[in-house]
Amino acid sequence: MAIYKSGQRRADGYDTHTHLNDDTFWHDVPAYFGRATEFSIVEMNIVGYDAQSNERAIQLAHEFEGMHAVIGWQPEDILEMNDEKLAAFRKQLQDDTVIGVGETGLDYYWDDNPSAAEQKKAFIQQLTLAHEFNLPVTVHTRSAMADTYQALKDAHVEEFGGVMHSFTGTPEEAKQFLDLGMYISFSGIATFKNAKDVQETLKSVPLDRLLVETDAPYLAPTPMRGKANEPMYVHYIIDYIAELLGKSYDEVAEMTTNNARRLWHLDQAK
Ligand code: NI
Repeated sequence: MAIYKSGQRRADGYDTHTHLNDDTFWHDVPAYFGRATEFSIVEMNIVGYDAQSNERAIQLAHEFEGMHAVIGWQPEDILEMNDEKLAAFRKQLQDDTVIGVGETGLDYYWDDNPSAAEQKKAFIQQLTLAHEFNLPVTVHTRSAMADTYQALKDAHVEEFGGVMHSFTGTPEEAKQFLDLGMYISFSGIATFKNAKDVQETLKSVPLDRLLVETDAPYLAPTPMRGKANEPMYVHYIIDYIAELLGKSYDEVAEMTTNNARRLWHLDQAK
């Protein structure tokens, strides 16, 4: 338990996907982290997406207790992944602050992204590494649900675990990933007034598979929608879910934090 700013005690929260390694935050990480801890958001995954952000994720996780590194290559940056960078990546995966692989996945939404074949190759490559090092995978998917599912199934994700991050699919799609043993993480998108379908999906996810994230600096939750996002705002998402599910803030914070610690093996020594 940490002390909430107003003096009220709140259960510890865990932002499972944030980018304090992004240029948006890089100039002042201690301030962003300090604000989050004032709201009892005391643990977070710093998620990489290319060479520089992966390096920074590891650097932050070494520097701040409560930060963990998840490293990977997002679809739009995979063409940078040459043999030399891949060798460096393998080495980074063995760092004791690295708890997962990601973000990785498939994104067919943008026309200027690498081809579907190139994306699949890089995704499968990272799933193979996740399997080899027994690290859960953080998965991004956009306009590519069926191919994403197939790759995860073929890679036997149930053997090393994973999360569908900032999930916006249907309850049926969520169930497919749940059946592979995966967790489902919801971002600020779930709090938007017009996101009734995402809210239906959220309600369908078993409570022991539910995670929360800001995906900051992107898409701040209601009531901060349109403003700059940052990790402390995960408390709005927890609040929103508590109301949606008829639970208390502390129940949802505790549950989602425990789920995250279970998925990323944080209760065991590495
Ligand atoms: Ni992200």
